[in-house]
Amino acid sequence: MDELFHQLAEINKKPKPFEFYTSEQLWTNEHTSRKMLDFHLNDEIDLSSRHSQFIDRSVDWITSRFAVRKGVKVADFGCGPGLYSNRLARRGASVTGIDFSERSIRYAQTTAAREGLNVNYLQQNYLDSNLEGQFDLILMVMLDFCALSPSQRRCMLQKFCQSLAPDGSLLFDVCSSSSFENRNEVTGFGPNLLEGFWSDEPYYGFLNTFKYDDEKVVLDKYTIVEATRVRTIFNWMQYFTPETLEHELSKCGLCVDSLFADVAGTPYSHTGDEFAIVAKRETITV
Ligand SMILES: C[S@@+](CC[C@H](N)C(=O)[O-])C[C@H]1O[C@@H](n2cnc3c(N)ncnc32)[C@H](O)[C@@H]1O
Repeated sequence: MDELFHQLAEINKKPKPFEFYTSEQLWTNEHTSRKMLDFHLNDEIDLSSRHSQFIDRSVDWITSRFAVRKGVKVADFGCGPGLYSNRLARRGASVTGIDFSERSIRYAQTTAAREGLNVNYLQQNYLDSNLEGQFDLILMVMLDFCALSPSQRRCMLQKFCQSLAPDGSLLFDVCSSSSFENRNEVTGFGPNLLEGFWSDEPYYGFLNTFKYDDEKVVLDKYTIVEATRVRTIFNWMQYFTPETLEHELSKCGLCVDSLFADVAGTPYSHTGDEFAIVAKRETITV
């Protein structure tokens, strides 16, 4: 009884913001990576990727906004199954796609090879990646930036700054601080929580959602109890205002060029749940 009490106390324990990083477990695990690929390719739900009509519209806008054509170099961080990378390659861009999910990279490569597209897919953790050369456009799409801790974000922004061509652009999207207000702390439990998302084997799943008001961070902490193992997966989400983001960018030699409501160029609204940023390298005037 005593042991059960302590296990439940551990499950319900609120860690420090970004204390644990477990993204790899979510995206590269044999079972959940298959589920995630299904979500990427499912037009009914905007979960791992947005639906294909949105992506078509987004790639149309990106192509015109950033003058994508033959010879333009694009890096797509967290490219998943290549839904943006392959479309941009069809417009003539030379694309490098980076993702640590073997399953997604294999899907992206197979699709690209079938059409003879110019995409260099790299199965890597982007936190450790060192891309050679400079890029006219760097993408990080679908709120990936928000899953990173402050030091990981700094690491990525420094990489982006180094890898951008002098007039290159960085495009990414984030959760807005107004949507932080709509999140609530909850505790949930269920046999095979999320309809078997976490395992093929029977399991009991706990979800603890914690809010960090000062930091504007939300954690969905999943504890998955199977017959032979217990896993804890920490899904972090940082919420931003244009000002907090601008501050982070400026510390890494980048500045905001423009704001949009999404990566399809919809005009910015301060009431939206998300927003997208185009950033450039800061120009040094002497
Ligand atoms: C929300 S999905 C977005 C995929 C794609 N950008 C899209 O919108 O279709 C995030 C992607 O980032 C990848 N990812 C997350 N953290 C990563 C890391 N540290 N290194 C490499 N890939 C990562 C995941 O495997 C996943 O494919």
